[in-house]
Amino acid sequence: MEGFGKELARLKEREDAVVLAHYYVDEAVQAEADFVGDSYYLAKAAAGTGKSTIVFCGVRFMGESAKILNPARRVLLPDPSADCAMAHMADPAQVAAARAQTDDLAVVCYINSTAQLKAVSDVCVTSSNAVKIVAALPQRNILFIPDDNLGSFVQKQLPEKRFHFLGGHCPVHTAVRAEDVAAQKRARPRAAVLTHPECRPDIRALSDFVGSTAEIIARAEAGAEEEYIVCTEPGVLYELRRRCPGRRFYPAAPVCGDMKRVTPERVLACLREGRGEVTLSDELAAAARRPLERMLELAK
Ligand code: 13P
Ligand code: SF4
Repeated sequence: MEGFGKELARLKEREDAVVLAHYYVDEAVQAEADFVGDSYYLAKAAAGTGKSTIVFCGVRFMGESAKILNPARRVLLPDPSADCAMAHMADPAQVAAARAQTDDLAVVCYINSTAQLKAVSDVCVTSSNAVKIVAALPQRNILFIPDDNLGSFVQKQLPEKRFHFLGGHCPVHTAVRAEDVAAQKRARPRAAVLTHPECRPDIRALSDFVGSTAEIIARAEAGAEEEYIVCTEPGVLYELRRRCPGRRFYPAAPVCGDMKRVTPERVLACLREGRGEVTLSDELAAAARRPLERMLELAK
């Protein structure tokens, strides 16, 4: 979109706003954002901003987390209907039932979750800090919601813990098929396979590296290989190509349609018209803040 950067700068100044963007959104939005990163980096950036308005270029749970950590600030979502399907794949009633049935239990909630799920959890995690945080918990039993795949990735590294799952998954990452990745590997035998832990265990098993989007980028920057097969949402290829010119990146996952709802036009419109404001009741925000702040503390 022509003139996007200039108009965004004008509106940011007028509205005293900062723009945060996840690696999965439109390239033009990433190019103009003040902070671009993975979920953990963006949660920290949101918690540390001095601006009165935060424009969160991502899906709903990201805007909600920013609001929970910044109750006095205005948080705008360019498209409030952009949601993460997995964020809803557990129910507070299931959490209550697990607590009633299991002793010595910690409820660990992936940040890709509704505020209602966070509110009934003991601690939040992101894909880049989940192992560290679960390892630091005193409880032996871990109810890991809502992503079974990230949960099983953590479980492999912490055999001393007993994990319980409720069956959630990311429809984008679980669409990656082992036979397709194997075929890409045969076609490019020197390529390294970089994978997000939301992918199924069989994809992780044939990968050279598994990590969050920011960790995937860091691995490619540090890696000796010239070619990479990337098993996460292809929006990340923008930053990979920017940081690693001359290397070749091949996407292996489909796009997340919800992340792609964040367009330059919608970013400008939300700031211009004050649309898409995230609102949460004080009670819900206070209950969901505890596990998020505990995450920021334990991940330090
Ligand atoms: P990151 O923790 O890598 O940002 O992942 C977020 C996400 O939505 C993955 O699908
Ligand atoms: Fe949610 Fe998956 Fe989209 Fe990430 S890629 S926002 S987990 S649906």
